[in-house]
Amino acid sequence: MARLTIRTWPDPILRTQAEPVEDFGPELSDFVDDLLETLHASGGIGLSAPQVGDRRAVMVMDLSENHTDPRVLINPEILEGSRRAWVEESCLSLPGVEGRVIRDTWLRVRALDRAGEPFETELEDMHAVCVQHEVDHLEGRLFIDRLPTLRRLWTWAAVRMRRSGR
Ligand code: NI
Repeated sequence: MARLTIRTWPDPILRTQAEPVEDFGPELSDFVDDLLETLHASGGIGLSAPQVGDRRAVMVMDLSENHTDPRVLINPEILEGSRRAWVEESCLSLPGVEGRVIRDTWLRVRALDRAGEPFETELEDMHAVCVQHEVDHLEGRLFIDRLPTLRRLWTWAAVRMRRSGR
């Protein structure tokens, strides 16, 4: 396994639509292991392939305290969602930025596992929020795009200032 480098804004791959996975060979499985290792080393709860410079529609998440609940979703598709709420988010690709966005806290999701087998699952609370955040990444979106307008302008200005070291 290998730890991968996490890309940060404004890397253009963060604005790129991911491509559906079609090849479920051993290379994919190795990549999924690398993504999980990178996630666990980062202290985050979710990570998508574009964040490590790969255009495949792959995401991983682990909300356990001891890295005991790794979940892998390939070509994930949100079938339905409900129970909207304001939630606090941050992102490994936007270090130091936090914001409150509206998300569904219940989801039904379809995806493939690393062997290419389809499955459906119902997710609640932070699992549901995390999947929406990572599916956004697979579609080239960042959570700050979802902030209310004034808050978004202010946050982008703060991100740019932080990057330029002022
Ligand atoms: Ni993120």
